[in-house]
Amino acid sequence: MVATMNVTRLCGSKSIVVVNGQFPGPTVSAREGDLVVVRVVNKAQYNMSIHWHGVRQLRSGWADGPAYITQCPIQPGQSYVYKFTITGQRGTLWWHAHISWLRATVYGPIVILPKLGVPYPFAAPYKEVPLMFGEWWKADTEAVISQALQTGGGPNVSDAFTINGLPGPLYNCSAKDTFKLKVKPGKTYMLRIINAALNDELFFSVAGHPLTIVDVDAVYIKPITVETLLITPGQTTNVLLTAKPSYPGATYYMMAAPYSTAASGTFDNTTVAGILEYEDPGSPSSAGFNKNLPVLRPTLPQINDTSFVSNYTAKLRSLATEEYPAGVPQEVDRRFFFTVGLGTHPCAVNGTCQGPTNDSRFAAAVNNVSFVLPTTALLQSHYTGMSSGVYSSNFPAVPQSPFNYTGTPPNNTNVSNGTRLVVLSYGDAVELVMQGTSILGAESHPFHLHGFNFFVVGQGFGNFDPAKDPAKYNLVDPVERNTVGVPAAGWVAIRFRADNPGVWFMHCHLEVHVSWGLKMAWVVQDGSLPNQKLLPPPSDLPKC
Ligand code: C2O
Repeated sequence: MVATMNVTRLCGSKSIVVVNGQFPGPTVSAREGDLVVVRVVNKAQYNMSIHWHGVRQLRSGWADGPAYITQCPIQPGQSYVYKFTITGQRGTLWWHAHISWLRATVYGPIVILPKLGVPYPFAAPYKEVPLMFGEWWKADTEAVISQALQTGGGPNVSDAFTINGLPGPLYNCSAKDTFKLKVKPGKTYMLRIINAALNDELFFSVAGHPLTIVDVDAVYIKPITVETLLITPGQTTNVLLTAKPSYPGATYYMMAAPYSTAASGTFDNTTVAGILEYEDPGSPSSAGFNKNLPVLRPTLPQINDTSFVSNYTAKLRSLATEEYPAGVPQEVDRRFFFTVGLGTHPCAVNGTCQGPTNDSRFAAAVNNVSFVLPTTALLQSHYTGMSSGVYSSNFPAVPQSPFNYTGTPPNNTNVSNGTRLVVLSYGDAVELVMQGTSILGAESHPFHLHGFNFFVVGQGFGNFDPAKDPAKYNLVDPVERNTVGVPAAGWVAIRFRADNPGVWFMHCHLEVHVSWGLKMAWVVQDGSLPNQKLLPPPSDLPKC
């Protein structure tokens, strides 16, 4: 049940939208192969929809959740039952509201265990703990974004980061609101890390404890051990943390802080800490933890350390074993080249705006198309064949006017508006190069594709070179995921097979950029076989 609740953080109380009276929301636990059924009852005053981020939703696109893409929102007082089967996935995903900025507080973990009797491809951890990063805003986030869209300016930023909803000891009034991981010497813990922040990519490190990454976005990888990891909004990372063999007589901060190359002031430049503490063997009960130990802090990279980010992301590789193969398409049917970045809209005639200049508004676009959500759901229009007047199928496969994407930006930065989609045939092998631009500042954009996992076959800085770069693709063991950072002033190449009929949203997972139009959608047509067709809509599908 979705409803509002009063919550106190950073010395202040506010009303937030939550699920089942919990913040963060409840964990959805399932096993691979399970049918998941969730009835969402909307008792809040906002329109609502819930997205099961990263769940493939094979043929069940009606349950995907993005408002105006696969469904109309659930109106106040209404309900909708999301029903989907988890196929071929195990690891950590998450769920969140998928309308306006309500995911600021409406989110929770999805834990997918392997099928009964199937072990992890690594030693089973002693315990598993979800670790969900979020943002805390003193302001009402719905007011923040609606005001920003009115003025054309950049929205305010969050006041704190949180771990499992708790800001922790580095913020005012928050020592009592600290996430604590209590460990026993010698044991291994699996942290299921999720970045649910609205607008911030985060570095994460635990003092004195290396992290072994075994899974990203619910796909196993070749384990790598790092001091620090980077996680963008939308991504998940499962790590193994092994406690020291004997009681260390210290406690350890686990800290997260943003990675951003954007202008300062456009992101929250604070640090969140949780505490890793050891059970004191000298204490009579496991409840006894020594309060007076030295506290060790990890060192995080510089806020704009792009080379750390690219080195880190280049290390992630699929497991690519017989049991867990990397099914990366070797041949490609459809190729796309999309620019992704910021831009502008002109301010209304004679108006004053607070965009990059006072006669412009901030916008963002893929191939210069700033995506406009329709007022009805795209999937319904597609399914009923009534798409005319709702969307057009002519999304540009390449930029209409090429420019030096990562060089000096062009003088005219205006983008067009449109609800334009790409139509794919069932089974198409798709290659997509996403090219960041330097318009209004080069930034990393964590792009998320609904309905599919994709393989990250290449990445680089500067402009993508179609003559040279494809030769360097990794078509053997590229990492498979659902959200990838398009490098700041660089590009990333992904491949996926369009084997899931429906309408699938793709967007930057920085909410401010989504609001500005950094999004588009793919239509995947039905295949010829009965099991290649989108299922009919459920009878309780919300109406607009
Ligand atoms: Cu997690 Cu369309 O989003």
